[in-house]
Amino acid sequence: MIQVALCPSEIRRISATDLSEVTAVVFDVLRATSTIVTGLASGVEEIIPVRTVEEARQQKIKDPTLLLAGERGGLPPEGFDLGNSPEEFQGLKGRRVVMTTTNGTAAIESVQTASKVLIGALLNIDALANYLFTHPPKKLWLICAGTGEEFSLEDAYAAGALVTRLSDDQGLSDSAIITRSLYEQVGEDLHEWLRETQNGRQLRKIGKDADIIWCARLSLFDLVCQLKGGRISCLTD
Ligand code: MLT
Repeated sequence: MIQVALCPSEIRRISATDLSEVTAVVFDVLRATSTIVTGLASGVEEIIPVRTVEEARQQKIKDPTLLLAGERGGLPPEGFDLGNSPEEFQGLKGRRVVMTTTNGTAAIESVQTASKVLIGALLNIDALANYLFTHPPKKLWLICAGTGEEFSLEDAYAAGALVTRLSDDQGLSDSAIITRSLYEQVGEDLHEWLRETQNGRQLRKIGKDADIIWCARLSLFDLVCQLKGGRISCLTD
């Protein structure tokens, strides 16, 4: 069965359940998971997602070789080395990054007890689908990180892109069916559509149109990223 958590309150609800047989794929298309996938594809060694700015700062104090990255209100908190733009995560080959964002890293942390946690973006959507074909999960939850407490269209779209690519043998929940309909309705020429979403409008306000263009690309990377022991890195098998 493929199920989709469409907003943060639903993510909190499932995080309190037994996830030991669940593979979770977390989407925060604008921008946290797109940035994570871009960074790892560009040679970042690992990314440590944490919930709060304070936790991130503490990690850096313990290990000053870490880069401190993330956002609040779309912008890097004071003293951070990097924000949450995919372009900032390129050219960091071999570096380790601790990252905190409003919704994306919180969603990842919420499902960390799942048997497998994969990082989803449009940028690696075919690689994710291929991986899930060859490693069929008992239960699959697609986690849409959302914005604040709200549902985000672009995360639901990405979930739908993955649902469409997977065989429907496993069965689909109503939430999975609606994300597939959204994906089919929007199609794959999505840059203009993405710019008009709530997050797209917010990012344009802070001058981040280039990030929207980047995050709208489908399957730029043949890469699957997994959270293991609190760290995200590329899967090699
Ligand atoms: C988040 O995690 O809430 C987002 O990635 C916010 C952003 O686009 O910076």
